[in-house]
Formats: sequence, C-alpha cells, structure tokens
Amino acid sequence: MGDRVYIFDTTLRDGEQVPGCQLNTIEKIEVARQLEKLGVDVIEAGFPISSPGDFNSVVEISKAVSNPTICALSRAVKKDIEVAADALKFAKRGRIHTGIGTSPYHIKSKLNSTEDEIIKRAIEAVKYARRFVDDVEFYAEDAGRSENEYLARVIEAVIKAGATVVNIPDTTGYCLPTEYGEKIAYLVNNVPNIDKAVISTHCHNDLGMATANSLTGVANGARQVEVTINGLGERAGNTSLEEVVMAIKSHHDLDFETKIDSKQIIRTSKLVSTLMRMPVQPNKAIVGRNAFAHSSGIHQDGVLKNRENYEIIDPVDVGVRESSIVLTARSGRAAIKHRLQILGYEYEGEELKKLYDHFLILADKKKDITDEDLEVLVGAEKTKVDHAPKLEFLQVVCGKSTIPTATVSINFNGDIFTETASGNGPIDAAFSAVKNLVKRKVHLEEFLIQAITRGSDDQGKVHVQVEHKGISYYGFAANVDIVSASVEAFIDAISKIQ
Ligand code: KIV
Ligand code: ZN
Repeated sequence: MGDRVYIFDTTLRDGEQVPGCQLNTIEKIEVARQLEKLGVDVIEAGFPISSPGDFNSVVEISKAVSNPTICALSRAVKKDIEVAADALKFAKRGRIHTGIGTSPYHIKSKLNSTEDEIIKRAIEAVKYARRFVDDVEFYAEDAGRSENEYLARVIEAVIKAGATVVNIPDTTGYCLPTEYGEKIAYLVNNVPNIDKAVISTHCHNDLGMATANSLTGVANGARQVEVTINGLGERAGNTSLEEVVMAIKSHHDLDFETKIDSKQIIRTSKLVSTLMRMPVQPNKAIVGRNAFAHSSGIHQDGVLKNRENYEIIDPVDVGVRESSIVLTARSGRAAIKHRLQILGYEYEGEELKKLYDHFLILADKKKDITDEDLEVLVGAEKTKVDHAPKLEFLQVVCGKSTIPTATVSINFNGDIFTETASGNGPIDAAFSAVKNLVKRKVHLEEFLIQAITRGSDDQGKVHVQVEHKGISYYGFAANVDIVSASVEAFIDAISKIQ
C-alpha cells in the first residue's frame, strides 16, 4: 500500500471565485454532498468574511456533510479568523486556512511591509486561529516566487505557532515542475520541525504545469494536494482533481494512494459543469467528452483487439458507462426511471412525470436519446428559475438575398412582450430583438454552440456570456433548434442581471 495523499478540494472556494461560476447555497450543498461521495478529505467551503452568502454556505455545508473536514479561508487578520471560526461552528471537523503573502512582490508592493513583520503577522494569525480550532492550515501566498531561505523561516515559525498543515501555493502558476519539486524538497531538508505538519501543494495552471507541479510536490514530500473539479479556478485555473487522482492511480510506480472513489469522477465533473455553467473542453484529460473516444480506423481496430492498446485508463474506472438501452419516443416511464437510476438520479412521482414529459418532447424531435441528453434534461430541471423570463415565441427569416429578421416574444411573469429586429444573421437579429425587449445595455462577450453527441438531429448546447455594467453573466440552454437554444441562453444570462 502506497503512502496516503490527502485530497483537499477547493472547487467551492478558489473555483467559485471565477466570474459567472457563483453558486447559491443550495447548489453548493449539492456539490459538497457529491464531493463527500467522491471521497475528498477536505472541502474548502468558502471565504466567510467575503460575503454573507459565503458565510452562510460554510455554515450549511458544515451541517450537510460529515466525513470530510470543512475548511474556511481567512486572511491573517483577526476579524477574518473570528468570522471563519463562527462559520465553522457546526463542522464535525473544522479547519481554518489562514495566511499571508511571502514573495518580494507581495511583501513590498501588495502589503508594503518587511520580511520580519510578515513573519510576526503569520505567527499571530496561526496562534489566534488555534484558539478556535485544533486544525490550522497556513498558506504562504505566492510561495512559488518566494525565496526558499525566507520561506523556510516562515514555515518553521508557523509550525512552531501551531500550524498543522503548511500550504505552499504557486499562486501565479509560475513554477516549472523541477523548480516546484526543489522548493518542497528544500523545505523538507531545511525546516527543522517540518515533521510536525503536513505539506500541501496548491498550484495554478497559468503555464499548464499545475498537475505536473503538484505531482513533483508529492514526489518530494508533500502529502496534501489542493485541487478543483475540472481544474476550475482563477485565470487558467487550479490543479484538476481528476488528473492528479488518475495519475496516482494509473502509476503504481509512484507508490501513493488517495481515498477517492474514481467511479464518481464523471458524475462530479458533470454536476459542477452544469451548476457552474462552465463547459468542459471536449479534449480535457479524464473528463472531456472525447477523453475516451476513438475515431480513427486504426485506433478503433486496436481498441477492439485489446482496449489497452490505446487506453491507459478503463473508462469504467472514472464512471463512464456504455449505454446499452437505446431510449426513443417509444420508451416508457419505467425505462427512463431505470436509466436515470444508472446515471445516479432518483426521480419519482410528479418529478418523474415532469421529466418524462420533457423527454417525450425531445424524443419526438430526435431519434435516439443518449445519456448526455438525459443529463441535460436533468440539469435544465435543476437550474430552472421560477419567474425567470421565458421565450414564448420565436420566428426567424433568413437565407440568401434576404435580410435576416427575427420576431421574439418573451413572457415576463405572465405578461408577453414582442419585438422584431434585423441583423447579420438569424441569431444576431433575434439577440437584437431580445435587447430591445429587455431595454438593458448588454454586450455579448462569448457565445459557444456545442453539439451534444453527433448527427444533424442532435441537441445543441449553447453557453452565452454577457457583460452589463462591468459584470459578466452566464446563460445556458439546450434545444434541438440551435437558434431557439441561442435565444434561450441569451435570455437566461440577461435574467441574472439584478
Ligand atoms: O492561490 C493562492 O495562493 C490561494 C491562497 C489563498 C491559498 O488560493
Ligand atoms: Zn489559489
């Protein structure tokens, strides 16, 4: 049995900081419960001082899950620590994660301080946090660009002050794997009391090195890895949980183990993607739609002879299942219920009837209904907001030698309003009509259409990002008619503007 590596998931803190990925408390609880099923050791549930919503989420997640340690972030500031401790009051095992910048950039141009003053503040913060909880993690922000000698002094001091875990973040994603590995090795060899704490990695992906850096960190002595689902996070994101876990699982030569139930990986990835409205790139390692798809004839032939000819991971190990039942408009409610159960969703009574009605509408338009289609139907049900404006009517005229024109009616809480507009194409025309209807200045920042599986009768998934007064809002919709999906996603995004 290999050495245990602890998995610290920060999807609900570092991942949730991404503009447009914000979740409400109910959604966060759903993600936290799934993370518990996945088997993570620590859930970083939020940054309680940052907003009442974050505070409340930490409180409610602490009540809702019991196996993982619940962690709350704070700066090295007394008030932050008090609020974090208060938010953790229902946690079975609570951890305060406090820290301060240790790189020359942070010490001088962010904190306007000195090396000695930073050590003093770090010690005070850890000691203060230990008054409330036994488990205190210290982060040395921008450790990736901190001088190793100074970093070692800070780490020695905070362990002496009572830190149980020391986090060495590569906050800006600057380090190369050898450099990050050497940093961890330096601390192992030069901090006299390092055996009294667990070393943690926290790597950002600005140079695409986050997973490699985390693994070299572990190879050099770190025993906790901070990750997010789908690699979500600030800028280019954080280390992705699925990559680290599957690298450790696939490489027995590394001789490490985690307690993650890898069969829950896909399910967790899809839940986070749906709720945070953040599509997963199709070729994303482990969880991308194409991660286990073989398209060339040579590869297909090779896989049929022996899966391992072209696959290093059995897709079943991460929860990808082969669909054997083909669902069509002739399938009954029992077949849908059964398929949903295999996918891990329990639907009964009225809820099942409602979902089945939506299934039939889709099945009338589309030959086969795949697992992905069902996941979208489930996701659409979950994210439906009552009283949200709805697309009531849409007609577009387009084609060669025609001025593309769209007529759109939107139902605002029972009142229906209609507008007609023209544009460069049918979607542009329809978006202009919607803009005229909502009377808000919105700027379209991103627009992405993806076919869910394949075939011209397939559903299109549309993700839209709009900007209003400097804030970005995301919208999502799926429909076999891509113009309707586009307009619905646009309305979904606009409806989130306060
Ligand atoms: O990237 C970082 O440095 C962080 C810390 C707050 C842990 O997210
Ligand atoms: Zn971070």
